[in-house]
Amino acid sequence: MFCYFHSFSTLMSELKLWRVEDQPLAVQLAAVFKEMESLKCEQTTLQQQQNALTQDDNFQSSVEDARRRGDPCFHYTVLDQTWRATNTTTNMKMCDRHVDWKGWYRLFYKGKSLQMPERCVPVNKCGTNSPLWLSGPHPRIRDGIVTRNVCGHWKKQCCAFRSTPIKVKKCPGNYYVYQFTKPTSCYLAYCADVNTLVCGRCRRNQSCVSRDKINWRCKTNRMSSRKIHFFASYPAQITGKMNRIKYSKVLVNVGRAFDRRTGVFRAPVKGIYQFFFSTQTTIKGLKTDLWLVINNYWVALSRAHVPRSYSVGSTSTYMTFLRRGASVYVTHNCGNSWATAASMTITFGGSLLLQSK
Ligand SMILES: *[C@@H]1O[C@H](CO)[C@@H](O)[C@H](O)[C@H]1NC(C)=O
Ligand SMILES: *[C@@H]1O[C@H](CO)[C@@H](O)[C@H](O)[C@H]1NC(C)=O
Repeated sequence: MFCYFHSFSTLMSELKLWRVEDQPLAVQLAAVFKEMESLKCEQTTLQQQQNALTQDDNFQSSVEDARRRGDPCFHYTVLDQTWRATNTTTNMKMCDRHVDWKGWYRLFYKGKSLQMPERCVPVNKCGTNSPLWLSGPHPRIRDGIVTRNVCGHWKKQCCAFRSTPIKVKKCPGNYYVYQFTKPTSCYLAYCADVNTLVCGRCRRNQSCVSRDKINWRCKTNRMSSRKIHFFASYPAQITGKMNRIKYSKVLVNVGRAFDRRTGVFRAPVKGIYQFFFSTQTTIKGLKTDLWLVINNYWVALSRAHVPRSYSVGSTSTYMTFLRRGASVYVTHNCGNSWATAASMTITFGGSLLLQSK
């Protein structure tokens, strides 16, 4: 109830603007005001809920920390043994059955990251008789931890030995970790594919790909579009010229491209954007002009004109191609725009529809 009474005095002063014959309208507007005020109270509740959600976010990030602590991508043993390389031909006969495997491992060759072969490796390579290779594809990041079969090549049979399955995980930064287990027999050993050394040089926005599983190369990932959305309102009345409306009530600001202090939206990437902006005018005989200003050019108008004693709202939309860094704001060129903290009548919003290269 407090918020209702609080604004009632403002309402009374606004009512003085209308003459006697306008009273039914004034009464209607009073009802609208009341509605707005209850919305305002509702909004306070929403804000409290949002704050609670933000606290949840903090909770989420501590969960993230805990997950990271248990994540094999950050907790593995380095396995840097040149004899495991797919191109070594020694008379050494190693057997991974004699190893006491514990936890997760990452394969290296002379300090450089590499991965298991996904193809049949000739016999007597990888420092053993029957080289072990991964019979399924390496997982993607979103696959998480997967179980893969392991094959040992022997006597012209690529999967003569179906060894114990292992677990594999792809990590951020283009490397894999493996949870090796004792193979079924001797002499079997896990291989490190020297052809995949190139993968260690792939950038963060690249993946290591191969058609034949022999030749590998870094391929730039398809660009994922940035998400940019904002919606803001001006919480009070505007009279006359206001060069740049500082929409201070920001409800949505995904991508943080809208600055509430200046009221300016700045395109963070090149692409096609859509904007909308609105006004509401209530003073008889006045026209209210709102202009969308892009790179200091006035490009689109939203006009509300009150011929008689009515309240008129107006919304305008605009779509355009913007380069990175372009500035967008709204100017109140003339007239009188009505708004309260809860009314959402003077608004400005926009979205990135399509990012271009
Ligand atoms: C195996 O490959 C690595 C990396 O390409 C290379 O440095 C090394 O000389 C090769 N070893 C043999 C025996 O060919
Ligand atoms: C990929 O990342 C590099 C920096 O690591 C950057 O220079 C390059 O522009 C990015 N490429 C794309 C297509 O995003």
